[in-house]
Amino acid sequence: MKGIVLAGGSGTRLHPLTLATSKQLLPVYDKPMVYYPLSVLMLAGIQDILIISTPGSLPSLHALFGDGAQLGLNLSYAEQPEPRGIADAFLVGAGHLAGDDCALVLGDNIFHGAGFGSLLRDTRKNLDGCTLFGYPVSDPERYGIAEVDERGRLVSIEEKPARPRSDNAVTGLYFHDADVVEIARGIRPSARGELEITDVNRVYLEAGRARLATLGRGFTWLDAGTPQSLLEAGQYVQVLENRQGVRVACLEEIALRMGFITADECHELGRRMEKTQYGRYVMDVARSSAGRA
Ligand code: G1P
Repeated sequence: MKGIVLAGGSGTRLHPLTLATSKQLLPVYDKPMVYYPLSVLMLAGIQDILIISTPGSLPSLHALFGDGAQLGLNLSYAEQPEPRGIADAFLVGAGHLAGDDCALVLGDNIFHGAGFGSLLRDTRKNLDGCTLFGYPVSDPERYGIAEVDERGRLVSIEEKPARPRSDNAVTGLYFHDADVVEIARGIRPSARGELEITDVNRVYLEAGRARLATLGRGFTWLDAGTPQSLLEAGQYVQVLENRQGVRVACLEEIALRMGFITADECHELGRRMEKTQYGRYVMDVARSSAGRA
């Protein structure tokens, strides 16, 4: 399975913050926003990842991660000159996917919760068609909304419905099999001129090949697309990290735990940032893992 991080868009809801920088590089407490979605793909065990962004933002994203080898990843980059919808990522990424299954994550989505890594790896292993991840929200008209029947089966998906049939939002993380590129090629742009992910997912649903995994209470899903939600996301991470002494979306730690890099390599990545708590945390993680080995 290959991964895609869709970090496009002009971030208009964050102007003037995003007039001169990419939304996905803004800080969510102690790290750039894009660390969070990238960490999700890494937790799923995916190393071959395409980052899609605007021509203006790609150089900074490249400066941040390079080819990803320091994290045991194989990162590549592609341009999406203007926002053409989430499903356009499958067209931009068709060459990268090269007939493989795909995990797509939106660059401003933050997921956090116990057992998430194993849920992702199980989903990947048992993928048949597509798997979406649902999360209850208080403002369902802002999202793709999934309806499930009394047996937990997915029966409808609607994009930003005026009268939502449920409060189960479809989060910005999508697992699809290799058919997704052909399916995305077959859908038409919506009224707002975009290739909607919901239309792709509906093709799977109508073929009886779409599932919904529910991320329930005790799990956190945030997006960071407005000044308010960006600050709240930062505060959430700050409280959690300071209280527990562990880091959310620490890419070096995840790369080590997933076996993508060695303890020595992890320690060296931390050492390069040793003036920060983040850097010292990475060094500590590397040291305790080497001690256990
Ligand atoms: C997009 C999707 C929507 C999904 C949301 C999750 O909406 O179209 O189905 O629920 O992402 O973040 P957007 O944020 O592009 O309006």
